[in-house]
Amino acid sequence: MSLLIDNIGELVTNDGGDGPLGLLRDVAVVVEGERIGWVGPRNRAPAADRRFDAESAAVLPGFVDSHAHLVFAGDRAEEFGARMAGEPYTGGGIRTTVAATRAASDDELRRSAARLVAEARRQGTTTIEIKSGYGLTVADESRSLRIARELTTETTFLGAHVVPAGADADAYVNVVCGEMLDACAPYAKWVDVFCERGAFDEAQARAVLVAGAKRGLGLRVHANQLTEGPGVRLAVELGAASADHCTHLSDADVSALAGSDTVATLLPGAEFSTRSRYPDARRLLDAGATVALATDCNPGSSYTSSMPFCIALAVREMRMTPAEAVRAATAGGARALRRDDVGVVRPGARADLIVLDAPSHLHLAYRPGVPLVRNVLHNGVLQ
Ligand code: NIG
Ligand code: FE
Repeated sequence: MSLLIDNIGELVTNDGGDGPLGLLRDVAVVVEGERIGWVGPRNRAPAADRRFDAESAAVLPGFVDSHAHLVFAGDRAEEFGARMAGEPYTGGGIRTTVAATRAASDDELRRSAARLVAEARRQGTTTIEIKSGYGLTVADESRSLRIARELTTETTFLGAHVVPAGADADAYVNVVCGEMLDACAPYAKWVDVFCERGAFDEAQARAVLVAGAKRGLGLRVHANQLTEGPGVRLAVELGAASADHCTHLSDADVSALAGSDTVATLLPGAEFSTRSRYPDARRLLDAGATVALATDCNPGSSYTSSMPFCIALAVREMRMTPAEAVRAATAGGARALRRDDVGVVRPGARADLIVLDAPSHLHLAYRPGVPLVRNVLHNGVLQ
């Protein structure tokens, strides 16, 4: 079955065309099954089984949210309220969510994660990464990943999120690198670690990443979120696909990222929800680093599933241009997941597209908080 998406006013391709977004105007796209088959001027479009009229709107690749924690129970609205009244964010609330998650049934966790994936999809996210990290036992981490695997292929083992209450940190790291990794690796594509004061230090983070790599998992690191520290350096040294947060960076961290294949994934929802200083995207971009934007959707530090919201924050608060932010939320996320079949519109790529209720990608930042995603095409199917 083929589908002609006709009358596209502005197409973001991230592949050739004008500027950083590879913009094309007055074009059409033909979708063949789950893939893009053809892209070009409207008057040369081949025939297709069905036609969809984009009515001169902007069409983009679906958003690639490369960092989300969706398998959890309960929420932490009270903690958010206290923060907005002046309490600092320390990450200590993670243990509250761990207790609620352990007490929940598989079905409760499945339903709540699926609801968040659907919520993200309605806002244009067509590829999403999902981490474990609120179980912190062999059984609870592996069931979190089994559930995540039902929802996405981009699953990440984050057994090293925090040290569980009452446990010894080094003893826990041994469990993470041994029995827990054995149980989780079959359901995971990536391994991640929260390398931060109060979570895991450099040696512990290295042990987790090296053990994951030995099991064939790709590497990601929660790095430099709350303080300047060794996370980014370690991520680059070990060839991680992504260093996430990157809020507190030294000049050496910025140069290391710029000279590497490690993407700097910025998560402005976390700074918004913890009322903290935003990462300096301009500094990273000017140095030549690849930047991605993601939601970090989780019940503690960033309870948003909205990539358009993150784009608007990045433009207003992080000195990104709208084009840079849209690219970071699409092609940037794809780079952070080492994917070349999403975040881009070209023949052969996955047929994941969004149609805006607006004539240009600029409106994503220009009209913050407005539901601008009119249609989502995922795996070639209009939703
Ligand atoms: O990415 N930094 C560690 N993990 C999450 C926060 C999780 C939580 O507060 O529940 C993050 O911000
Ligand atoms: Fe996170």
